[in-house]
Amino acid sequence: MSEHSAYALACRQLQQAPRRWLVTGAAGFIGSHLLETLLLLGQQVRGLDNFSTGKQSNLALVRAAVGEAAWRRCEFHEADIRDAQACARACEGVGIVLHQAALGSVPRSLAEPQLCHDVNVTGFVQMLGAARAAGVARLVYAASSAVYGDHPGLPKVEEQIGAPLSPYALSKYVNELTAAVYGRCFGVETIGLRYFNVFGPRQDPHGDYAAVIPRWLAAMLDGRPVTIHGDGATSRDFCYVSNAVQANLLAATTGNTEALGRICNVALNARTTLLELHAQLQDLLAGACPQLPRLPPLHGASRAGDVRHSQADIGKAVRWLGFAPSHDLHRGLRETVAWHLQQASIPAVHCKGAHIDADQYRLR
Ligand SMILES: NC(=O)c1ccc[n+]([C@@H]2O[C@H](COP(=O)([O-])OP(=O)(O)OC[C@H]3O[C@@H](n4cnc5c(N)ncnc54)[C@H](O)[C@@H]3O)[C@@H](O)[C@H]2O)c1
Repeated sequence: MSEHSAYALACRQLQQAPRRWLVTGAAGFIGSHLLETLLLLGQQVRGLDNFSTGKQSNLALVRAAVGEAAWRRCEFHEADIRDAQACARACEGVGIVLHQAALGSVPRSLAEPQLCHDVNVTGFVQMLGAARAAGVARLVYAASSAVYGDHPGLPKVEEQIGAPLSPYALSKYVNELTAAVYGRCFGVETIGLRYFNVFGPRQDPHGDYAAVIPRWLAAMLDGRPVTIHGDGATSRDFCYVSNAVQANLLAATTGNTEALGRICNVALNARTTLLELHAQLQDLLAGACPQLPRLPPLHGASRAGDVRHSQADIGKAVRWLGFAPSHDLHRGLRETVAWHLQQASIPAVHCKGAHIDADQYRLR
């Protein structure tokens, strides 16, 4: 990161004048990275999570990463965003909310559409109401590229969306409309970040609803073939989690009023097919662990609700927020692979050609 970048400047300003933050979904994948970064920047952070998909172990990893002195600036509420009183308590005395809590899986929303609505829509409205009542200065929330639905245009531009293809996509679209209305009617400052396939350390590899990169890495490290849903030509704009953290901190601190009440894409403006992703992961693992078998992928049926191609136009995030992704796909995958190797306790001695830096999760 250049010391003159908007992100470097925002970090320096936060260090000089620390704020009080609420991170919802703090025990989850992206939320735990936000928590970690904010604590490392000297901020006071309240985390909220009901551990439905989040994990105590993520909090333990954050604690280990930031150290005890920084961890003392963290307060945790085990609570549910569907509980209005819990949301009110969580917002007390808070300056900025980073709202990540949601049920984040398209297949899960197809299996449990009512639950998806309750958590992602009702919970979102509770958080907005609590933020408004507490006089929170700004609420930045996790939106999703799922809202592009069946719109064929590439790259995806914020104004051009299609029909939602799942209850999850619908819930995220309703969030965007609601946030804009709360801005217009009640003056609540919001910015929505449409994440595109975020990946990185601490993303859960297990369960029916696991995301593709951690699920595939877990299979490859077990010596099992991965299953690609469909022909493998489906493409995504995979975004390393540090880039998503950067976008949150920039959105939370920007003085650019053009961004308020609006949403912007967060990714790389790149497109990688599932077959290309599979090959890249195999290459990285082959360099690190030559003893692992290099198995061809299996192909299963396409999944309902999945968008065929995805690639973000990130012009708005760049212009409005000064967003400048620090990690391209390859660098992000290297750090993610190294973290999975470390978690799987694969001894470095077996990982010829790669040294695992335990602090930075880097393959060298
Ligand atoms: N990971 C991605 O690729 C991606 C892409 C687009 C959008 N998003 C959005 O980003 C956000 C974070 O996603 P993630 O990948 O970190 O998922 P995650 O499942 O790891 O994190 C979500 C967190 O929210 C918590 N949570 C869920 N329901 C809750 C409730 N009712 N009350 C309190 N806490 C609750 C979960 O326990 C979990 O810790 C979500 O809003 C998701 O929809 C993620």
